[in-house]
Amino acid sequence: MTMTQTLEQPKTASTRIQKVGVAGCGLMGGGIVETAASFGFQVVVREVSQALLDKGMSRIEKSLDRAVEKGKRTREQKEATLAQIHRTTQIKDFADCDLVMEAIIENIDEKRAFYTELDRVAKKEAIFASNTSSLSITEMAAVTGRRDRFCGLHFFNPVPVMKLVEVVRTIDTSDDTYREAMAFAKALGKTVVTAKDSPGFVVNLLLVPYLLDAVRALEKGVATREDIDAGMKLGCGHPMGPLELLDFVGLDTTYYIAEIMFSEFKDGRYAAPPLLKQMVKAGYFGRKSGRGFYEYQG
Ligand code: CAA
Repeated sequence: MTMTQTLEQPKTASTRIQKVGVAGCGLMGGGIVETAASFGFQVVVREVSQALLDKGMSRIEKSLDRAVEKGKRTREQKEATLAQIHRTTQIKDFADCDLVMEAIIENIDEKRAFYTELDRVAKKEAIFASNTSSLSITEMAAVTGRRDRFCGLHFFNPVPVMKLVEVVRTIDTSDDTYREAMAFAKALGKTVVTAKDSPGFVVNLLLVPYLLDAVRALEKGVATREDIDAGMKLGCGHPMGPLELLDFVGLDTTYYIAEIMFSEFKDGRYAAPPLLKQMVKAGYFGRKSGRGFYEYQG
C-alpha cells in the first residue's frame, strides 16, 4: 500500500509510527481507525467481541460510502483504506504496533486492566495513548512499565471532520513520546494543543459546564429546547446548539464525564443536573438511542 493510493494528503509531519493499534471500535475508536487508515497508516483494530467489531466496521464502511457518494473519494480509495485495516478480537495482535491508541469504555478499572495486559504483549518501544476525555492518564500509565512512553491523544467527534487533537503530557511523558504523539496527530492533518493531565484537559474543562448549564436553563424553563439551541447557534455562531450537541456526543457520555470532573474538582459547575441524570437512567442517550432532548428516526 502506498500513500498515493489514499485520497488524503500524504503524511507531512515526520513520524516513526507506521503501524497503529486502536483498542475499541465505537464512535471515537472507529473514527480514529478510519482517519488513520485514510492517511495511509497500517491499522490494527481490536474489539472485545466479534459482534462489536462488525458493528464498528460497518459504521466505518458507511462513512467511507458517504464520502464516495459525495465524490470526496473514489471506490478504489475506499477499498484501499479498508485494506489498511486489520480486524481482531485478540489483544496479542497489537504486538508489533508502534503506537496503541485506546478508545475503550470510559472506566478507570477497565482501562487499567486493559493497559496491564497490553503492556505484556506490546513491543518495548511502543507508545501508548489514551483517548480518554476526563480520566487520569497518569493513573493508567502507572500500571505499565512504560510511563515515559504514555500520553493522552484526545480526538473529537466526528473524528474525520474535527480538526483538533489535545496531546496530554503527564509528569512522566518523555520529550520523545510527546514529539512522536504530536507528529502522529499532525500526520492526520490535525492541529494540536498541549494540555497537562488535568480532568477535561482544555476543551471539556470549558465545554462540560456550558452543556450542563444548557440543561439547567431547560430545567428552569428559561426557554424551550429549540430556543436554547437557536440562541447559541445564531447568537454565537456555534454549528450546533448545546442540547443538539449533547444528543450528538451522548447524554450518557457527558453524564459520566461530568461525574468524573465533579468528583475531582468538587465544583458545582461540573455537577450533573437532575434532568440529565433522569434522562440517562431512562435510556435517553441522544442520537444513538433514538431519543435525547430531541427524537431521531432510524
Ligand atoms: N464522518 C465523516 N465526515 C462527516 C461526518 C462523519 N461522521 N459527519 C459529517 N461529516 C462531514 C460531511 O460529509 C460534510 O463534509 P463536506 O462539507 O465536505 O460535504 C461536513 O462534515 C458537514 O456535514 P453535514 O453537511 O452533514 O452537516 P453539518 O454541516 O451540520 O456538520 C458537524 C456536521 C460537522 C457534526 C457539525 O454540526 C459540527 O461541527 N458540530 C459540532 C461538533 C462538535 O462540537 N464536536 C465535538 C464534540 S465534544 C467531543 O467530541 C469531545 C468529548 O470528549 C466529549
